[in-house]
This record gives sequence, C-alpha cells and structure tokens, in this order.
Amino acid sequence: MKGIVLAGGTGSRLYPLTKATSKQLLAVYDKPMVYYPLSVLMLAGIREILIISTPESVPPLRALLGDGSELGLDISYAEQDQPRGIAEALLIGADHIDGQPSALILGDNIFHGAGFPRILRAARERLDGCTLFGYPVSDPERYGIGETDARGALVSIEEKPLRPRSDNAITGLYFYDSDAVEIARGLEPSARGELEITDVNKEYLKQGRANLFRLGRGFTWLDAGTHDSLLAASQYVQVIEQRQSVRVACLEEIALRMGYIDAEQCRRTGEEMKNSEYGRYLVQLAETLG
Ligand code: DAU
Repeated sequence: MKGIVLAGGTGSRLYPLTKATSKQLLAVYDKPMVYYPLSVLMLAGIREILIISTPESVPPLRALLGDGSELGLDISYAEQDQPRGIAEALLIGADHIDGQPSALILGDNIFHGAGFPRILRAARERLDGCTLFGYPVSDPERYGIGETDARGALVSIEEKPLRPRSDNAITGLYFYDSDAVEIARGLEPSARGELEITDVNKEYLKQGRANLFRLGRGFTWLDAGTHDSLLAASQYVQVIEQRQSVRVACLEEIALRMGYIDAEQCRRTGEEMKNSEYGRYLVQLAETLG
C-alpha cells in the first residue's frame, strides 16, 4: 500500500501565522504538524510515502524530512500549485500509487488513541473498496458526514451539510483500493471549483464498496486548521506527553519499534538534536530498546 500526505492549501484561516510558512510546518507542541499524519501512515505499515504541497512549501518539507531514509522510509515530493481539491492528490499521486491500494491523509489531521496500530492494520487487511474513519463531533456542519443504518453500514455521505443527518464526521484519513485514481479521473469540480474527496467516497458508496470504521469516544481526532484548534492540539499533546513521559507521533520511535531503523540510527538522530528534549528522548530510547 502506498501513502500520500496532502500538505498543501493556503492556510489562510491561520493568517498571519501561515503568510510565510506552510501550515503543516507549524508547531503542534514539540514537533511540526506534518509529523502527526506521517506517524499514522507509518503505524499502518506504509513506507513509500508521497508528500504533496505547494511549490513554496516543498523545499522546507524536504529540508525537514529528506528522502526518509533516516526513518527507514522512502519519501518523495510533488507540488500542487493551486488548492484544486483533496481528490487532486490522487491524480498528482497516480504514478506513485502505480496501480496499488493507497492511504491518503490530510496534513493537518491528528489521530491518537490506544489500539490505533491494530485498527489500521485490520483496515488495511480487510480493504474492499474504500475504508473511511468516522468520529463523533459537536459541529458536524464543518465536515464530510457519514450517515449509517442500524447495522452501522454507510447509507449516505455529504460534504459539510447544512442539516447534518448524523454527527459522524468523516476524518481526513482514507484507505482506497486500486480504483481510486480512475474514480478521481472521472470527477467534475464541485460548486466551489474543487475535486472533492467526498465525491470519490460517494462513488465507492454507489458501488456498495464504502466502509466506515467508527473511532470511538476514547479516541482523539483533531484537525489543526484554526488558531483555537491549533492551540488545543498543542495542549492535548503537552498533557499526554508530560503525564505519561512518552511522545505522541515521535517518528524515530515508531520507526524503531516497527523495525524500520535500528537503535544506532535512532541514537544518531538523537545526538544531532541533543540540545532538545526530543533529541535526548531519542538517545534514551536507543539505549532502552537497543
Ligand atoms: O479534516 C477532515 C475534513 O477534511 C473532512 O471531514 C472533509 O470531508 C474534507 O473535505 C476536509 O474538509 P476541510 O474543510 O478540512 O478541507 P480543507 O479544504 O480545509 O482541506 C483540508 C486540508 O487539505 C488542509 O490542510 C489543506 C489541504 N488541502 C486542501 C485542498 C482543498 C490541500 O493541500 N490541497 C487542496 O487542494
């Protein structure tokens, strides 16, 4: 399965924070925002990852993550010169996907919860069509919304409905079989001029091949698209990390635990950043897990 992180957009809701930098490079407590979606793909066992961003933001993202080899990953980059819609990621990423199943994640989505790696692995193994991840929210008119029947099967999907039929938001993590690129190629731009990911999902639903996995109330899903949600995300990560003394979305730790890198690589990366607590955490990890 191939991975895509869509990390473009203008970030205009966060101006002036994002006037001169990419939203996905902003801090969520102790690490750049893009670490969080990247960690999800890594936990799903995906190692070939395409990061799509604006022409201005690809160079700093590349400076941050390189070719991924320090994380045992193969990271490549592509540009989206205008925000023409989330589904355009499937077109820009068509060569990268190369006829395989894919996982697409939005660069401002943060997922955290016990058992998530198991959920991701199971979703990957059972993939038939597309798998979407639902999460109950108090403001459903802001999201793609999935309505389910009594058995939990999806019956409708709507983008930002004025009168939502459920509070089940469809999060920015999408697992697709190899048909997604073809479906995206057949899309027409929506009224707001975008290729909507919701329209890809609706096509799978029409074919009876859209599945919804509901992330429960013990799970955390945040998007960091506004000043308040960005601060809330930082505070959430701070509370967890200070209370438990483990780190959320520490990419080197995931790489080490997943066997993508060895303890020596983890220690080297840690040494390079040893003036920061993050760096010292990596050195410590290498000793404990090495
Ligand atoms: O966060 C989950 C929601 O994401 C879903 O529930 C919605 O169905 C989905 O449409 C999307 O809604 P948003 O209102 O959050 O979409 P937005 O246009 O803000 O884009 C989400 C992220 O994707 C944002 O960080 C910018 C990036 N993006 C967006 C577009 C349209 C791109 O990189 N390129 C694009 O063309």
